[in-house]
Amino acid sequence: MAKNEKNSAPMRLDRYLCESLQITRSQAKELLAKGRVILNGAVCKKADARVCAGDEVVAGGKAVSRQEFVYIMLDKPQGVVSASEDGHDTTVVDLVRPAHPRRNLFPAGRLDKDSTGFVLLTDDGNFAHDILAPKRHVAKTYTVRIDTPLTQAMIDGFAAGVTLADGSLMQPAVLQGVPGDPTLTRVVLTQGVYHQIKRMFGTFGAGVVSLRRTAIGGLALDESLGAGGWREISADELALIRSKEEN
Ligand code: URA
Repeated sequence: MAKNEKNSAPMRLDRYLCESLQITRSQAKELLAKGRVILNGAVCKKADARVCAGDEVVAGGKAVSRQEFVYIMLDKPQGVVSASEDGHDTTVVDLVRPAHPRRNLFPAGRLDKDSTGFVLLTDDGNFAHDILAPKRHVAKTYTVRIDTPLTQAMIDGFAAGVTLADGSLMQPAVLQGVPGDPTLTRVVLTQGVYHQIKRMFGTFGAGVVSLRRTAIGGLALDESLGAGGWREISADELALIRSKEEN
């Protein structure tokens, strides 16, 4: 088993093969029946043999290891919804599913359908819960174009904590201008309320023209991915996400 599985529970050999090789249960059974799977040095044909931490599995002559969880950085395009499944629209998970057909991936945090940028996809519920927990205050950084020039009143209001139209008080947020472009802004939030940025600007009579998430915690979106592009996140990058620091 791979290093990151040291603490994981034993798993059926056929399931282990499916998850690590991304093959179907019947393909795994075929490999086993043909005697092409070696467990700890001996051919094993039993689908229900248990694979434990430290066991060595070889299939078709190659060592097999299973990554316990997957963490993906996706550059969400406009028009794609932040969900695992949707009866109508393409979801963020649809974009990566061909490469991970057997993983129960979901977005850890949402972006509106018309927003773009960094969405983190994972099948690690504990990690997602941890970085989304309000107490953790993991910062999310956005580039936001508004339909009116940025004012000092907006900057001060965001810093003090905006009260939305429904009366709810938002945590203080960073709002900065971009030199030379009066309607382009950078926003840093430490909470995730539905349509939060649009509603916060709305209290100042400003509309949001475009909204792009550029960082989660201390991890910046890899802009070379392009719209709809994605890649797995390294362990070092994961640690950056957990850090509260804004990018
Ligand atoms: N705030 C919004 O209004 N929309 C988003 O997609 C993210 C933050």
